[in-house]
Amino acid sequence: MQAVLLTNIKQLVNVREDTGPLYGSEMAELPSIANAWLLVEGNEIAGFGKMENLKNALPNQPAEKIDCSDKLVMPSWCDSHTHLVFAGSRENEFVDKIRGLSYEEVNARGGGILNSVRKLNDISEDELFRISWKRLEEISALGTGAVEIKSGYGLSVAGELKMLRVIRKLKEKSSIQIKSTFLGAHTYPLAYRDDHAAYIKMITEEMLPVIAKEKLADYIDVFCEKGFFSPEESETVLRAGMHHGLQAKMHVNQIHSIGGIDTGIKLNVLSMDHLETLHSDDMIKIKNAGWKGLCTLLPTAAFFLRMPFPPARHLLESGAAIALASDYNPGSSPTGNMNLVISLACIQMKLLPEEAWNGATTNGAFAMGMGNSLGSITVGKLANLIITTPVPSLAYLPYRFGTNLIDKIILGGRPLGF
Ligand code: NIG
Ligand code: FE
Repeated sequence: MQAVLLTNIKQLVNVREDTGPLYGSEMAELPSIANAWLLVEGNEIAGFGKMENLKNALPNQPAEKIDCSDKLVMPSWCDSHTHLVFAGSRENEFVDKIRGLSYEEVNARGGGILNSVRKLNDISEDELFRISWKRLEEISALGTGAVEIKSGYGLSVAGELKMLRVIRKLKEKSSIQIKSTFLGAHTYPLAYRDDHAAYIKMITEEMLPVIAKEKLADYIDVFCEKGFFSPEESETVLRAGMHHGLQAKMHVNQIHSIGGIDTGIKLNVLSMDHLETLHSDDMIKIKNAGWKGLCTLLPTAAFFLRMPFPPARHLLESGAAIALASDYNPGSSPTGNMNLVISLACIQMKLLPEEAWNGATTNGAFAMGMGNSLGSITVGKLANLIITTPVPSLAYLPYRFGTNLIDKIILGGRPLGF
């Protein structure tokens, strides 16, 4: 078995025994060890401790040694919300928005999601795999070790299956851990704009049975929003997915508060994502419902769309568990850079660095059902790790926003240099 020994680590970050998601004030605690070592055997974390105790813990077999003097070692990012399988960029809409169009106006003109749908249906499955693979390489170099990827740019039986099959192939070939989400209810295709029932029937009767049979998805998601899927329509779609064994997630309260929070609580969804527009009664519901899922916040999307940032501090005061994710997609967040997500969470949402780390590692892992195998430095968890460049402290990383402070990545126990 191959072994890698990291020594003289300035700070080993997010060291914990197995936990569940972290709620409210728990998120401010980020247990760390100063002057530490860590041993990787095969693809797992085999042990760690303080440097002064290293002698007693040396592995039997020779290990590749990496000196981490002045550097931090931390679990890789767990990015629990992306749409990184897409066919092409949309910088023309970016410019339209600079000229004054709103996100909703761009969508109403047949741009937005439908623009990506046209592009996706025009390229082959092989080509889609090739360009998506490049995006996975890009985010792995930025420290992401686990990612959830959604469909939702096909919006036809063939298109959705094409996306999900590409995600399955990425899962099979990549050292990044991947979860797959069926988002057929992303928007209504033009032909179904006035016949919502017929499209929902296509989702429930034509897409879902094949997806379930071929085990193409882990989760079902819906864009619950004015002009997209109403709370009632969302409930129908999510229930159908749950009936086929998929756990539910939601895009909810991104632009309007239309009652989707009630749906999420009622269906006990795993995560409610976006939450840029949370009214005080929504907050009270989240606080009082006893719902134990994750609030997944996407600060790069709020930034890119020039929207108010989600009220992260209020959510924490209400005892919520926050996960942070990139939303990597061509329309609202054309980046999968979790380092930037962390910086924006600290700068614009006033999360403490410790809270942001927990959101992007431990809670991110739980938001995609990987909390027991990833998201912290724990013996037996997968060795997907980030080694930073020499830095003075943890807070220095989000403080130096936009700067690449990653020296090395370890994925599945193997060091990758950049
Ligand atoms: O999470 N809000 C809905 N879906 C994506 C954006 C998709 C797009 O514009 O292509 C999001 O922001
Ligand atoms: Fe999204």
